[in-house]
Amino acid sequence: MEEERIVSPQMEGHAEEKLENSLRPQTLDEYIGQDKVKQNMKIYIEAAKKRGEPLDHVLLYGPPGLGKTTLSNIISNEMHSNIKITSGPAIEKPGDLASILTNLSEFDVLFIDEIHRLSKSVEEILYPALEDYTLDIIIGKGPSARSIRLDLPKFTLIGATTKAGALTTPLRDRFGIVHRLELYSVEDLTTIIKRSSDILKVNIEEAAAVEIARRSRGTPRIANRLLKRVRDYAIVLENGDINLKIAKHALNKLEIDELGLDDIDRKLLETMIVQYGGRAVGIEALAVGVGEEIDTIEDVYEPYLIQIGFMSRTLRGRKALPPAYKHLGYPLPEENGFSGQVSI
Ligand code: ADE
Repeated sequence: MEEERIVSPQMEGHAEEKLENSLRPQTLDEYIGQDKVKQNMKIYIEAAKKRGEPLDHVLLYGPPGLGKTTLSNIISNEMHSNIKITSGPAIEKPGDLASILTNLSEFDVLFIDEIHRLSKSVEEILYPALEDYTLDIIIGKGPSARSIRLDLPKFTLIGATTKAGALTTPLRDRFGIVHRLELYSVEDLTTIIKRSSDILKVNIEEAAAVEIARRSRGTPRIANRLLKRVRDYAIVLENGDINLKIAKHALNKLEIDELGLDDIDRKLLETMIVQYGGRAVGIEALAVGVGEEIDTIEDVYEPYLIQIGFMSRTLRGRKALPPAYKHLGYPLPEENGFSGQVSI
């Protein structure tokens, strides 16, 4: 694969990143979980190969760390094509995108991470490129400006975003394949942790793998990160094998509780429970309360807390739900409707 300034910056990197890459599955059969996406992609890939055409453009969305980049690499592998990797914020000007597109080869996969962050002027270059593999270039300025049309190689765009809602309709409509990646089950995460342990040549007890999985917030990236930190504790404090006791000890040291909640999660819930007494809270107020960006709260923290039934999003704002009160040891407020009483 070619190295360019805008394309593929993340292919460089230090040992930890290389290790991260070695844990990534290379084929759909190796990829654990996301069964619906996997089954559908298998059909689309096989059909495209039989037709001798590139795969239709793919949009993958969902919380971070669920394998959007991994899946894109797998798709290009399965299509026997090359992948070029870039991101929305890295493509600053229309010319940047024009240069990426004209440098593609037939059947290449172009992966654009955080595609919702493309600027309007860049996005407009993309429309004809996606629709009929053409590039419209304006030459000159004012009344003498002319537009020329260049043919591009037939390629597949894979766009990834944590915010499908932030995509403009014309862009969203140009993807023939749209899939949402879901948070992983503890069972799937356990399988991923055991697979990663094999690759890292670490012995791990089943119960320890389940314990790490339970605390990984439905996210393989977190599961692999926790596995590596637990391994550090096992190497220093014991013989390097991971048993349940050392896993629990390490995870407690990392201040990750039984459900995978960290400091920020607890602060978020406590802001809703203590500061706002169970009333609906706006996202802006929550962001100030915990000292995090709104986007980070929406993309990273909320999906898991909503999934485990600890909070809800309503039109009037966010609310902590009874299981969150119980987990953090707070009594339910009487006036917020949980007890069925009405405050006067
Ligand atoms: N490593 C990270 N994500 C994975 C997945 N979905 N399947 C297998 N290994 C993984």
